[in-house]
Amino acid sequence: MSQPTIESILHEERLFQPAADFSQQAQIKSLEQYQQLYDKAKADPQAFWAELAATELHWFQKWDTVLDWQPPFAKWFVNGKINISYNCLDRHLTTWRRNKAALIWEGEPGDSRTLTYAQLHREVCQFANVLKQLGVKKGDRVGIYMPMIPEAAIAMLACARIGAVHSVVFGGFSAEALRDRLMDVQAKLVVTADGGWRKDAIVPLKEQVDKALANNSAPAVANVLVVRRTEQTIAMEPGRDHWWHDLQAGVSADCPAEPMDSEDMLFVLYTSGSTGKPKGVVHTTGGYNLYTHMTTKWIFDLKDTDVYWCTADVGWITGHSYIVYGPLSNGATSVMYEGAPRASNPGCTWDMIEKYGVNIFYTAPTAIRAFIKMGEHLPNARNLDSLRLLGTVGEPINPEAWMWYHRIIGKERCPIVDTWWQTETGGIMITPLPGAVPTKPGSATLPFPGILAEIVDLEGDPVPPNEGGYLAVRHPWPGMMRTVYGDPDRFRRTYWEHIPPKDGAYLYFAGDGARRDEDGYFWVMGRVDDVINVAGHRLGTMEIESALVSHPFVAEAAVVGKPDDLKGEEIVAFVTLENNITASDQLKNELKKHVVQEIGAIARPGEIKFAEALPKTRSGKIMRRLLRSLAAGEEISGDTSTLEDRSVLEKLREG
Ligand code: WT7
Repeated sequence: MSQPTIESILHEERLFQPAADFSQQAQIKSLEQYQQLYDKAKADPQAFWAELAATELHWFQKWDTVLDWQPPFAKWFVNGKINISYNCLDRHLTTWRRNKAALIWEGEPGDSRTLTYAQLHREVCQFANVLKQLGVKKGDRVGIYMPMIPEAAIAMLACARIGAVHSVVFGGFSAEALRDRLMDVQAKLVVTADGGWRKDAIVPLKEQVDKALANNSAPAVANVLVVRRTEQTIAMEPGRDHWWHDLQAGVSADCPAEPMDSEDMLFVLYTSGSTGKPKGVVHTTGGYNLYTHMTTKWIFDLKDTDVYWCTADVGWITGHSYIVYGPLSNGATSVMYEGAPRASNPGCTWDMIEKYGVNIFYTAPTAIRAFIKMGEHLPNARNLDSLRLLGTVGEPINPEAWMWYHRIIGKERCPIVDTWWQTETGGIMITPLPGAVPTKPGSATLPFPGILAEIVDLEGDPVPPNEGGYLAVRHPWPGMMRTVYGDPDRFRRTYWEHIPPKDGAYLYFAGDGARRDEDGYFWVMGRVDDVINVAGHRLGTMEIESALVSHPFVAEAAVVGKPDDLKGEEIVAFVTLENNITASDQLKNELKKHVVQEIGAIARPGEIKFAEALPKTRSGKIMRRLLRSLAAGEEISGDTSTLEDRSVLEKLREG
């Protein structure tokens, strides 16, 4: 199986209509209805969003201006007062949903737990009071470094409830990476667990927190709250570390949601870009609440009886928007799973669907390719009749994987929503609405109503159908990121000036290459910057290079992505060594370990190639294009005339 290529998708002519019985019961029932919504939103985006904000969410106080757009800075629902934790919890308590399952959690060694809306509300209120007792105030930042357990969602909602800003760091990141993020965001408190379960092993989360905080390196952190999960022995620093269950015991469950300004910061989530330093993507309250609410409702076609399962980790934006905030704001039942398919339990995904009667299943193409490899006998041996809708996110899906998902999991009955979006966009941007838009395998199809997506060249001029260009968005939308934490200038440069604004009209530059076909369908090809996508995880090549050169034996490093059947891309690092250092397989392993230590296992290079020198232009820029071709084993094509020293290439080729 291979990644989509221009050739394979240019010849993609299959079109799948939503089944009539699906459309009849759907939130959005026909292409005409989609088109009407799209046109209405395009004609007057502010009126469109304002109407939905008024009917779909609870506000303590209504806004007075829908949008204040001082490019590239947007404010939505100015002076509106709202609390997303209230919208996710309190407002359901006065309805029959009070005792409906909000979270169904399945933990690793066979644990499970269901929290109704009333129970989740209680836990969130108590934990919010714990945070207050420890001196956490509105606007303070709280780091969350957790396994996939309900307490992760509880901690997020508790922060939102009192106006603290959460910054979740994926539990697979190393102590080093955690420290960088806690320092950048100046976290006052960290929530973690004694450990988490990951494929039959324990991840020592608390130990990593201790390392991250050693030598007073994130001095703002005054307290660490620890959930008991794996029951292993851990060190607890008196005065700083506290057990969650100790502090939660006997605490009042009365904690009214703080009326937040619509533009108050809700969270900061770090993501990789084309420089060495990850960016803190800032999302605010009102617009994000509305955008995740509406996209969840229409794209996943939520019904009150649905059991919805998104397999992401809460450490990524998908977990924020589509495990926690979007589903709970809609009063849905959201499944949270700590486990992952592995040799000892390869069919666990299908067991989960059968066990909980999952109706809507949202996962990543890399997971689907792994399912294919593990064999269709696994899903075929389970009853998957409950499924009615499937989704994918994170990277382009190759048509073969799409077809397998459609046939083997969806039994040719369930629509597939291939959803394109980013940490920065807050929610899904390009996607089919499942009862309305016919799908083509490998295409994310059409923009969500209110999203003006375009394919342009670097001047911002439109590119004709079927020609490759840059994916860009023209008008602000409620879920968009507001800034880079602590660096508004970087926000402007990275996203809004890459394509120079014309006559005051700004275009959001997504960093993806794409094309639109003759039906207006979007085909996303992948990143056009120095970002690579390994098993659905976004990594900056410069970040990995910085990690490599921080090793004393490394002189220079250049990292590229190489196409990989399973992971989408695999990390290949070209490394030159300091004088007197001898290349060896042992050193390769040491360097791989070093990257894992600096960033985390997700960044472990698949291959390290030692080189005498790296190919550079006369101005000293590493020619990554040549390295990409070399890594992929392709012929070097295109212009090499700018290469400073041609013999470098010959030597690299010879290996
Ligand atoms: C990048 C954003 C947004 C949730 C997970 C990733 C790629 C995402 C698709 C898709 C093709 C996709 C893009 C994008 N991407 N979804 N359906 N088809 N590519 O969030 O870590 O911020 O990464 O993921 O390259 O720019 P992220």
